[in-house]
Amino acid sequence: MTELGHIAWPPAPIRTGRLVLRESEARDRAAFIELFASPEVGTYIGGPRPRDELERAVPEVPGRRPGFFVVDLDGAMIGMVTLDRRDAERPGHVRPDAGEVDLGYMFLPEAWGCGYAAEACAAALGWFAGALPGEPVVLCTQSANDRAMRLAAKLGFTEVERFEEYGAEQWFGVWTSVTPPG
Ligand SMILES: CC(C)(COP(=O)(O)OP(=O)(O)OC[C@H]1O[C@@H](n2cnc3c(N)ncnc32)[C@H](O)[C@@H]1OP(=O)(O)O)[C@@H](O)C(=O)NCCC(=O)NCCS
Repeated sequence: MTELGHIAWPPAPIRTGRLVLRESEARDRAAFIELFASPEVGTYIGGPRPRDELERAVPEVPGRRPGFFVVDLDGAMIGMVTLDRRDAERPGHVRPDAGEVDLGYMFLPEAWGCGYAAEACAAALGWFAGALPGEPVVLCTQSANDRAMRLAAKLGFTEVERFEEYGAEQWFGVWTSVTPPG
C-alpha cells in the first residue's frame, strides 16, 4: 500500500445527513478493537483477530493516515471508510501503471442495515472526486459478501472482472466520477 498522493490531509470533517467523516482520535481506539475482533465483521475479510493481540498492537491513535476516515454517529465511531492505493502486485487493475485507489469499508455490526455505510462511502467518494477529479476508484470484495456486493452496486461500481484470491472468488469493480459521453 502506498500513500494516497498529493492531497491535502486531513480535510475538514465531512458532514452527511446523519454522519461525520473525520480523522481518527484516541477516543476511537476501543471501537477499532471491536471492529477487528468481531467475528461478524471478519467473516469475508480473513476472520477476527484475537482481542488480546489487538490490545497490544493497536496504537494509541489508530488509523492516522491519509485516506482513512472514521465514521462518527452522534460522537461515537461506528465504522471506517478507507481510500488507499492498491498494491501493484495484487490482481485487478484498471490503469496501465496500476496503483489504483481502492475503497474499503468496515462497520460495527450494530450499525448494519441502516444505510450508514452507503451514506459514508458516497461522501468519501464525493470528497475524492473533488480532490482528484476523474481518477477511478476500485473496489474488491469476496463475491459471497452479499452486503458488500449490494453496497458496491448502490454506490455505482461496475464489474471489471472476477478472480481467485485468498482462496475465494473476488469481485473487482470500478467507479468514476466522470460520466462517459453519450
Ligand atoms: C459491508 C458493510 C459495510 C455493509 O453494511 P450495510 O449496513 O449492509 O450497508 P448499507 O449502508 O448499504 O445499508 C444497507 C441496508 O440499510 C437499510 N437501510 C435502513 N435505513 C436506511 C436508510 N435510511 N438509507 C439507506 N438504507 C437504509 C437498507 O434497506 C439495507 O438493508 P438490507 O441490507 O436489509 O437490504 C457491512 O456489512 C460490514 O461492515 N461488513 C464487514 C466488513 C466487510 O466485509 N467489508 C467489505 C470488505 S470489501
